Amino acid sequence: MSRRVFIIGGAHTPYIGKGHPDFIWKNHPDFGKRENPSLEDLLAKAVLDAFAATGADPEQIERGYVGNFVGELFSKQGHLGAALAGCHPALANKPMTRTEGACASGGLALACAVDAIRAGADSILVAGAEMQTSESARVGADYLARAADYKRQRSIDDFTFPALFGRRSKFYQERFGVTGEDIGRAAVKAYANANKNPLAHMRARKMDLATAAASSEKNPCFLQNAEYAPYIRMSDCSQVSDGASALILVSEAGLRAMGKRESDAIELLALGQSVSSLFVDGDPTELSTVKHAAQKAYAATGLNPGSVNLAEVHDCFTVTELMMYEALGFADPGQGAALLRDGVTEIGGRLPVNTGGGLVGFGHPVGATGVKQPLEIFRQMKGLCGGYQVPNQPKVGMTANMGGDDRTVVVGLYRNLE
Ligand code: CAA
Repeated sequence: MSRRVFIIGGAHTPYIGKGHPDFIWKNHPDFGKRENPSLEDLLAKAVLDAFAATGADPEQIERGYVGNFVGELFSKQGHLGAALAGCHPALANKPMTRTEGACASGGLALACAVDAIRAGADSILVAGAEMQTSESARVGADYLARAADYKRQRSIDDFTFPALFGRRSKFYQERFGVTGEDIGRAAVKAYANANKNPLAHMRARKMDLATAAASSEKNPCFLQNAEYAPYIRMSDCSQVSDGASALILVSEAGLRAMGKRESDAIELLALGQSVSSLFVDGDPTELSTVKHAAQKAYAATGLNPGSVNLAEVHDCFTVTELMMYEALGFADPGQGAALLRDGVTEIGGRLPVNTGGGLVGFGHPVGATGVKQPLEIFRQMKGLCGGYQVPNQPKVGMTANMGGDDRTVVVGLYRNLE
């Protein structure tokens, strides 16, 4: 029988960047007096705060994994396994490894930790970090384009990923008759949830449906690609954020060794992993790799979409959230918008999704996102979400972390333990 895997908690740094009140830029009153945290600062803060939040003894950590996409480009820093080892003296001389799978880099760190526990390890540190504000959004878009098939797809637009998802949005809207207002509701929910979350990048920015549903001076369609430009507004995009998250995973023996009871933890029941070719594009109106990964997770647990009562999905763009609902089986093809329209995925709804704001509202420091998601499931299940706490204690949670344009996917299923 497979060894059980538990999450005993962790920590996030605040996710910050343009639009966040603490982000230092030339018009900020602290400009020249203090700097934004570096990649190394973010990683260390998340790791030390994770030890503090869980009471886990760093000496007992046997190994660690850190998800990061392009530290070499934004921070001129690679070799982040060694940076993880540098976060606490007790981590030195232990196996520490970086994982990379574009925006699923954090999900891969989680997957490595699960494999390690299933193979016999007892206590694992999992972190994810990215610092992206060292460059303009336009230069950053070139770095992020390395998550696509760069030679073939870079020229689609200076903002390659917004254009790739503008393409999906166009085909999706045309095929299913989905409107700008349907998609705008995803942005309104993301910002409203972020406004309740003190750690969120967009905690201080408001979004109403009139603004989100149509382009305007305030909310422009900013792509140069004429075919896809009408389908992506600023409010449809995830944020260019700096941030880190860290988690502690343990086996049953690790749980006891850390002095924890099962009720202090959630159980990670299964991870479904699926990777499709970088060089071949599938049907733009569905996330077929996400669907495969979800089917694996459901099959491994005997659960089904109806069992899930809390989810964190990879809303790299607003339309992606609707497509995620469908790929995870929460809605039929083309019907994702109805869940938003009916309030099903709001904090007080039957199936709350991205309660802290998701990638659009909480922010998207790409390597951190796949670690943030299971931590948010833990925090909601244990009643730690303060102003954005869901009213009913969730029993089963799901995460979906996606790298590139539906290429590397890690889907998780979790159970609350009482
Ligand atoms: N009218 C017309 N155009 C305007 C405008 C206006 N009022 N305001 C801005 N623009 C245009 C300009 O061309 C501007 O670029 P330049 O300043 O270089 O000319 C461009 O929009 C961007 O404007 P800003 O730099 O002021 O915007 P910003 O810094 O607030 O960034 C954003 C906004 C471009 C939407 C940015 O948040 C963004 O790029 N978000 C997406 C990030 C992303 O793609 N992440 C990866 C997701 S994909 C994934 O998750 C999978 C994976 O593996 C990668």
